[in-house]
Amino acid sequence: MPGDRHLPAHSASSRETATSAGSIGTREALATVRAQFPALSRQYRGGVYSYLDGPGGTQVPRRTIGAIAGYLERSNANHDGAFPTSEESDAILAEAHGAAADFVGARPDEIAFGQNMTSLTFAVSRAIGRTLRAGDEVVVTRLDHDANIAPWLALEEERGVVVRWVGIRAADCTLDLAGLERSLGPRTRVVAVGLASNAVGTINPIRHIVEMAHSVGAWTYVDAVHAAPHRPIDVAELDTDFLVCSPYKFFGPHLGLLYGKRERLEQLAAYRVRPAPDVPPGKWETGTLPGEAIAGLLGTFGYLEWLGRTFGGAGDAATRREALAAAMAAIRVTERGLALRALAALGGVPGLRLRGIVDPTRIDERVPTFAFTLAGWKPRDVAGELGRRGIAVWDGDYYAFELIRALGLADSGGMVRVGFVHYNEPDEIERLAEELSEMASPTAAHSPARR
Ligand SMILES: Cc1ncc(COP(=O)(O)O)c(C=O)c1O
Repeated sequence: MPGDRHLPAHSASSRETATSAGSIGTREALATVRAQFPALSRQYRGGVYSYLDGPGGTQVPRRTIGAIAGYLERSNANHDGAFPTSEESDAILAEAHGAAADFVGARPDEIAFGQNMTSLTFAVSRAIGRTLRAGDEVVVTRLDHDANIAPWLALEEERGVVVRWVGIRAADCTLDLAGLERSLGPRTRVVAVGLASNAVGTINPIRHIVEMAHSVGAWTYVDAVHAAPHRPIDVAELDTDFLVCSPYKFFGPHLGLLYGKRERLEQLAAYRVRPAPDVPPGKWETGTLPGEAIAGLLGTFGYLEWLGRTFGGAGDAATRREALAAAMAAIRVTERGLALRALAALGGVPGLRLRGIVDPTRIDERVPTFAFTLAGWKPRDVAGELGRRGIAVWDGDYYAFELIRALGLADSGGMVRVGFVHYNEPDEIERLAEELSEMASPTAAHSPARR
C-alpha cells in the first residue's frame, strides 16, 4: 500500500473500509449473536450475568462446544495413524491450520498451535536465543504483557543479550515511539511489542514499528493476544516476522497460536524430540497437540465466518479469508460504539479515574478495554463487589506488570479492568456505571467506609 507508509496501524486499510459497512448494531442482530453463546444466558440472583472479563478470556459459541464434543465422540486419535479416526483427526488439524492462516492472512504452514501464547513465546525466544551472541540486543516495552517480556529477559541472563526498554507516556498510556527509535541500533536483533494493551486498550502503530525494526535488520515479535478479538489482523500488511495470539481470548478454546514467516520458522532450530518433523509447522508443535481444542477452534472460525457472511457484508461467494476479515471489521465497527459509550458512562462515575486514552476523538487508537481506580476503594474490593452484583471484571495487574509499576500502582492493588467484546450489550455499560456510581456514593450500603 504505497502512500501510507507512516500511518499508524489503526488507520483503516482499503480492505477494511470495503467491509466496514457491516456491524452488529441493531438489537435483533445482537440478540441473534448472543443466542450463539450459551454462557450469556446465565442467570445470577434473578438477573443476567454480565461478562466484562473478556480480556481474561471470552465465552465460546455453540459451534465451538459442538466441535469439541464431536471430535471426542468421533475423531479422537493421535497423529499419523494408518486408520480412519487418525486420518479424520489429521484432516481436522490440517483444516484448522488453514482456517487460522485465513484469520491472520498467512499460509497454513506458517501457523503452529501450542499450549498458550506464553509457552509458544518461550519456545521461539529460546530458539532465537541460540543464534544470539553476548552484546546482541532485544527491545521490549513497558506497555506489554509480561509474556512478551520475561522470555526475552531470560536471554539476558543466559546469553548476555542486552535488553533495551521502551517506556510509556503516562498521561495516555501510549508507547514512547521516539524512545523506541532511539533504542534501535546495529546490534538490535528482535523488537518484541504488543498490538494492543491488555490493560488500558492502547493500540500500537505496529506497521510503523515493524518498518523501524526492519530498517536496522531486526526481527519483530508481535503479541496480538489482546488485539485478536477486536480487529482484523493481516500479517502480510504488518510484515511482522512473528505474531502470536490466544484463541481463548477470541471466542475459542484454551490454546496458543503462532504465526511465523515461513523462512523464519525454517531457519531457526526448534527444541523438539528427534522423531518429530523438522519442518514447519510440526517442528514447533511440541508433543501431542490438543486435538479437541483445535477442533473447537475450527468451530470458532466457523462462527466468525457465519458472522462475516450474516452481518459483515461478506456474501456467500466470499472466501473464508474474506468472510473472517468481514466479521472482524464488523466487530471493530460495533465495538467503536461500545467504546464511545463506555468512555462517556465511566467518565460520569464520581471518583473514578480512567487511565489510557480517554479523548473520544482518539477512539480509533484503542480497543474497548478500560482500566480505572475508584476513590476510597481497593481494586480487589471493587471487583469483589461487582462480582457479587453479577458483573465479572478483573483487578490487579493482569500481568501488565511493567505498566502497573510505571503508573505507580503496584503497591495499591493495580486497577480494575473491564473489557467489552462484540457480544456485550450497551445496557451492560449503563448497568456497570450505575453500580459503580452507587458504590462510589458515601451512603452506599457496600461502601468500604461503612464496613
Ligand atoms: C496481551 C497478552 N499477551 C499475552 C498473554 C498470555 O497469553 P496466554 O495465556 O495464552 O499465555 C495474555 C493473557 O492474558 C495477554 O492478555
